[in-house]
Amino acid sequence: MKSNFKNIESKLVQSLEEFEEGESRVYPLIQSTTYNYKDPDYVAGLFDLTETGHMYSRISNPTVAAFENKIAQLEGGVGAVAVSSGQAATTMAILTICNSGDHIVAASTIYGGTFTLLASSLKNLGIETTFINPDNTEDEIIAACKENTKAIFAETIGNPGLNILDFSKFSKIAIKVGVPLIVDNTIATPYLCRPFEYGANIVVHSTTKYIDGQATAVGGVVVDGGNFDWNNGKFPNMVEPDQSYHGLSYFEKFKETAYITKARTHILRDFGSTMSAFNAFIYLRGLETLHIRMDRHSENALKIAEFLENHENVLWVNYPKLKSSSYFELGNKYLPKGGSGIILFGVKGGAEGGRQFTKKLKWINSVVHLGDVRTCVLHPGSTTHRQLSEEEQIAAGVMPEAIRLNVGIENIDDIIADLEQALK
Ligand SMILES: Cc1ncc(COP(=O)(O)O)c(C=O)c1O
Repeated sequence: MKSNFKNIESKLVQSLEEFEEGESRVYPLIQSTTYNYKDPDYVAGLFDLTETGHMYSRISNPTVAAFENKIAQLEGGVGAVAVSSGQAATTMAILTICNSGDHIVAASTIYGGTFTLLASSLKNLGIETTFINPDNTEDEIIAACKENTKAIFAETIGNPGLNILDFSKFSKIAIKVGVPLIVDNTIATPYLCRPFEYGANIVVHSTTKYIDGQATAVGGVVVDGGNFDWNNGKFPNMVEPDQSYHGLSYFEKFKETAYITKARTHILRDFGSTMSAFNAFIYLRGLETLHIRMDRHSENALKIAEFLENHENVLWVNYPKLKSSSYFELGNKYLPKGGSGIILFGVKGGAEGGRQFTKKLKWINSVVHLGDVRTCVLHPGSTTHRQLSEEEQIAAGVMPEAIRLNVGIENIDDIIADLEQALK
């Protein structure tokens, strides 16, 4: 794999895979569930993890691997596993290290679907989560950790509250507690922020969002920073023999890639939340323009946030790059290139005012999505966050009148014109 580009823009545009003379310019879509072998001993070696190669596409596929390699390079990690959705990525990130009886500490400001996964589905499997306000002090967050805590989970940019993670504080806490810091980097993307540079240990993405960029494929990915000591006494299932793999110790055999190897060979093998080769092919295309799109999303979003802030019918605006934002300094520190394309704001008239505003928009549609090139809106309280109680919604940064605006890459004047007529 080529990895000698200094700058992320070149890594994004260029394929990192080696090509033979005359091979296709674009890494091909290898739409095959299985692979041919002449030597059965080689196949046996694949099952024993003594050989590397593709065996069956539930576990790996060349097109998916090209995408995984690229994401791992972009994030600065040692490996990645692509999966069927962002939800599957978070589930895999946790199940790779947690068993029934374990505990997680998570920011209360995370995406509603992840909140429900932790608060309900994983809880029902015996993995409990304590939610904390990420703006709490180091001591307060450490106080929420227990003997059986196995991970700390947060988002680089909270969806939809748009709070910025204080990496310095969180990575210090994770080190003190002796657990990995898992960061959902979906809204920032590796172009705007690379969490491993600030002490995160595992990164997850919903690739459904900006990495696709065109709202065509649901997917996710888990990336391993290779920077956590699994042999610290807290993670026996990473160090002790795995009976489902002939007594193999992931830590002994794979050292810095122990986590991501276990994620693939154990969790992906057993739970089967595989990314399709076709979706990986789409994501490889999406990555090639990620930097141009994120620059435009961020530039448009800042101009619109400033416009909204000065509008008489707008009560408040959350955008980390606004000077008035309480996250302005963290935004400058961790997102120097831009604040991404999501704005949260409140219109006058409460929940009903919010709904009326979205109805008056002419071409900006209500869409349950973010991160694609087309501008769209959503009223989180009645959609993505409706399973949460009102207190949980407010803890997640969602007020009843809140509107989430996904700023696209259209001409800024057209976007502002539609917002302006609806606000009037
Ligand atoms: C920050 C974040 N993480 C994870 C997810 C879940 O991703 P998916 O819808 O691909 O399962 C979402 C979805 O909106 C999200 O916004």
